[in-house]
Amino acid sequence: MQEKQLQELLGSLSLTEKIGQLVQVPGEVLNAEGQELGVREDLGLSEEIIRNAGSTLNVVGAKRIKEVQKAYLERSRHKIPLLFMADIIYGFRTVFPIPLALGCTFEPELLERLCEVTSQESVAAGAHVTFSPMVDLVRDARWGRCLESTGEDPYMNSLYAKAMVEGFQKGMSDGAKEPKGMASCIKHFAAYGAPEGGRDYNTVDMSERRLRQEYLPSYKAGVDAGCEMIMTSFNTVDGIPSTGNKWLMDDVLRKEWGFDGVVITDYAAIAELVIHGAAEDQKEAARLAMEAGVDIDMCTGCYANYLEELIQEGRIDEKQLDKAVMRILKLKNKLGLFEDPYRGADEAKEAGLFLSKENRRLAKEAAVKSMVLLENREETLPLAAGAKIALIGPYADNQDALGFWAIHGTKSAVVTLKTALEEAVGAENVMSAPGCETILEKDYHDLPAMQKQYGMEGWSDEKRQAEMEKAVELAAQADVAVLALGEAVLQGGEGGSRTSLTSRRSAYASEKVQKAAKVVVVLFGGRPLVLDEVSKLSDALLEVWFPGTEGGHAIADVLLGKESPCGRLSMSMPRCVGQMPLYYNHFNTGRPYDGITPNRFFSRYTDCENTPLYPYGYGLSYHKAEYGPVTLSSHIMKKGETITVQADITNTGSRAGIETVQLYLRDVAGSVVRPVKELKGVQKVALDAGETKRVKFTITEEMLRFYGKNMEYCSEPGKFQVMIAPDSSCDMQAEFVLE
Ligand code: NOJ
Repeated sequence: MQEKQLQELLGSLSLTEKIGQLVQVPGEVLNAEGQELGVREDLGLSEEIIRNAGSTLNVVGAKRIKEVQKAYLERSRHKIPLLFMADIIYGFRTVFPIPLALGCTFEPELLERLCEVTSQESVAAGAHVTFSPMVDLVRDARWGRCLESTGEDPYMNSLYAKAMVEGFQKGMSDGAKEPKGMASCIKHFAAYGAPEGGRDYNTVDMSERRLRQEYLPSYKAGVDAGCEMIMTSFNTVDGIPSTGNKWLMDDVLRKEWGFDGVVITDYAAIAELVIHGAAEDQKEAARLAMEAGVDIDMCTGCYANYLEELIQEGRIDEKQLDKAVMRILKLKNKLGLFEDPYRGADEAKEAGLFLSKENRRLAKEAAVKSMVLLENREETLPLAAGAKIALIGPYADNQDALGFWAIHGTKSAVVTLKTALEEAVGAENVMSAPGCETILEKDYHDLPAMQKQYGMEGWSDEKRQAEMEKAVELAAQADVAVLALGEAVLQGGEGGSRTSLTSRRSAYASEKVQKAAKVVVVLFGGRPLVLDEVSKLSDALLEVWFPGTEGGHAIADVLLGKESPCGRLSMSMPRCVGQMPLYYNHFNTGRPYDGITPNRFFSRYTDCENTPLYPYGYGLSYHKAEYGPVTLSSHIMKKGETITVQADITNTGSRAGIETVQLYLRDVAGSVVRPVKELKGVQKVALDAGETKRVKFTITEEMLRFYGKNMEYCSEPGKFQVMIAPDSSCDMQAEFVLE
């Protein structure tokens, strides 16, 4: 449709029909056949509202979408198609590793490809918009949603945000006959990843400088990459909930950044403005959200029930409503829905794409690249050929490898570690037992209720005892005990905040250790855990996160040496939960602690080191890299010029491997203090055994910019330090001056 036709369409809509476009209804209100529409009184959604709604949430599948769209269009006066949006976060039916794991690949191009593939599966299933990527910066492992983030670094998060948006949207508006790509909605704007105490939905309060410098860049990168939508966050920003925050949504997002796509709330967030205490009632909440520039009300009746009154009372200008409706119509038009309301939905394509060989191959590649080898004492890994393996632990033969937010993934298609190891070395070489269940009541307040809701089974004390004894016996008979441990899916994800980051699995590991010749811990989970004890007890420790559909094959290949692990941590691993928030790019303080000098009056803990157990960017491989000295092309950088920095990296090991070479910079003094180091470049370099490669980075003036004293984004003349290193724990080695 041409813009003129869209304007005509807008002009022909009644006020109720226009408001309907701004309402999103949850999928549950549409029955299985898609013929009848249900009512959700608890959400304030009447039948009339549902009939006029412009979009729906989490209805997927070609057959269902076609039925629902058909039933909807038959009832609709203007035949404006319904927009189908869904939480397709890190894979559709084929599920990739969780984003925190993908962050460990340091390979944005890979994430772009995964999102493209995800969008192919999703388009065949009829989805139009995905609520992904989540680009919230995370520094506090207590927060369960760390698993949806790509990590703690603003630079990498921005690269990933861009890559993911481009991957999802590839080909979306090409107008090709075969629809390709889906609209990407970045979330949760803004700073949702910084709730106080790591408690989900809690207050976020930080200086505007920190917000702009560290938290906003990834959203901005998504906007610059052309994301079609953005979702508000649940939290307050400077005392005002995002969903009613005009400064954030209008001044920053629309005016400063020029975003002209659709803004949607998070689930029920307009109604929550009342609960926050930002509005006295839902009518006022609707006014605040509308004033802030929020287009779609996700799953409440606030817009539907009150916008008309607000317009009639002159408290909302109808022109504002028209602008919001137009943005939604434009998105529908961009997707080609007016020409083809069933865009892409195709059962035959679904069958060919879902969990296809190629998609599974990619899922395996991503899982291999996102695992992080944290310890490998005496080269315990790869396992020796012919080793008798006791595979023990709740994740030994468990399909719970998808993590909390893969709601459309096919769990039954997950390859477990046991299956994969048996395939690789023969069932006669693998003895397996769970040893314990994934979660105990003491780890989770409402466990019985949750187990009921999620169809999980608790064990009796007798079973617990018997399973444990069996596991200990198996460990004693084996050459190596592979302990597949970790946190339960339920412990993380949305609403999965924790105050303790240890688990009984660490004690469990210690019992096994006494019996087995060698112990390899394979750690599942969605966040950094406190691994002090586990680390000491294991000969090798492999963090595999929630690795997705092909996790089992990927882990087996790494354990057996078919693949070399090359993931590097996307989040610092703590020694103790009291260190939270923990991140490498912190300020120095006036009293930094050197970790050695016995003096009380430093910025330090008296019972724990300041440093993480494993730093951001860290990881081992089966090759061994040595870094030569860092040299600069010049020690003076004039404004407008660039300099290069280089180092020789040698693989001194006996196997080829991929080294993730990292460039860190430090601005020694500024009009506002600057972090002790910041990642500014990454190169993944393939090295044969014995090979040396010279790795070069170009330093530009743009890399040195920050928000100065008066909030101007610029660089300041002065001294900078630089380092090319394998991880963020490095000392800085070279210096230059910006003139
Ligand atoms: C709440 C979550 O915060 C958000 O990430 C998700 O997209 C919406 N619910 C919709 O399911």
